[in-house]
Amino acid sequence: MKDRYSLLAPWYSSLVKLIFGGKLRESKLCLLENTASKNVLIIGGGDGLDYTEIAPDISGEYWELSGSMLKKAKANLQLSQLDFHLGNFKAGKKFDEVWLHFVLDTMPDDEITSFLVEIKKSLSPRGRIFLADFFSPKKRYQRILTCGMISLFRAITGHRRANLPDYEKILFTENWLKSSEEEFLVGWVKAQIWQLG
Ligand SMILES: C[S@@+](CC[C@H](N)C(=O)[O-])C[C@H]1O[C@@H](n2cnc3c(N)ncnc32)[C@H](O)[C@@H]1O
Repeated sequence: MKDRYSLLAPWYSSLVKLIFGGKLRESKLCLLENTASKNVLIIGGGDGLDYTEIAPDISGEYWELSGSMLKKAKANLQLSQLDFHLGNFKAGKKFDEVWLHFVLDTMPDDEITSFLVEIKKSLSPRGRIFLADFFSPKKRYQRILTCGMISLFRAITGHRRANLPDYEKILFTENWLKSSEEEFLVGWVKAQIWQLG
C-alpha cells in the first residue's frame, strides 16, 4: 500500500503547530474524560504527538494508513497500552470510544458512510464517537487557509476531496445523535461527541 503521508509525516505536527498554535490539540483532548477506564479505538491518529501526555492512560487499538505516521505514533505513544495496526481499519473487537480526529475530512462522503457502518460494529452499546475536525470556515482568512490546505493535501497526499464533508448531515442520516460540542476558532474547528440514537 502506498504511503501517501510519507512526505508530510516528518514535518506534519510542526506545521500544524505553526499555523494553529495549540488549538487542534485542544480540540482533540477537550471532551475526553476518564480515559484510563476506557477501551479506545483511534483511527487515523497520525503521528500521535498530541496524545503523548495522556499516553499512559490510553489502551485499545491505533489504526493508521501511513507507515511513516504509524512509526512516529509508536515512538510518541510508547507509554500507552495501544496495539498498533497499519492499514484500513477492520471491525473486530468492541470499544467504549472511537477517536476520529481530523480523519473524516480526508474521506469522500460514501466512504464516510461505509466507515460509520464499521464503527457501529466496533462500539459497545453505549459507545461514543469523539470527533474533532474542520467545519465551514467562518472568516475570510479561514476560507483562504481551507482552500490552501485542501490544495496542498491534494498535491502531496492524493487527497480525494475538494471541500469539507457535511459531517452532521451524514451522521444524523446514519442515526447518530450529538451529545456534546465545543467550538474553536469561532466554529471553524469543532469537537463533538456522537452516540447511536
Ligand atoms: C489529516 S491527517 C490527521 C492526523 C491526526 N489525526 C492529526 O490530527 O494530526 C489524517 C490521517 O488519517 C490517516 N487515515 C486516513 N484514512 C484512514 C483510514 N481509513 N484508516 C486509518 N488511517 C487513515 C492518514 O494516513 C493520516 O495520517
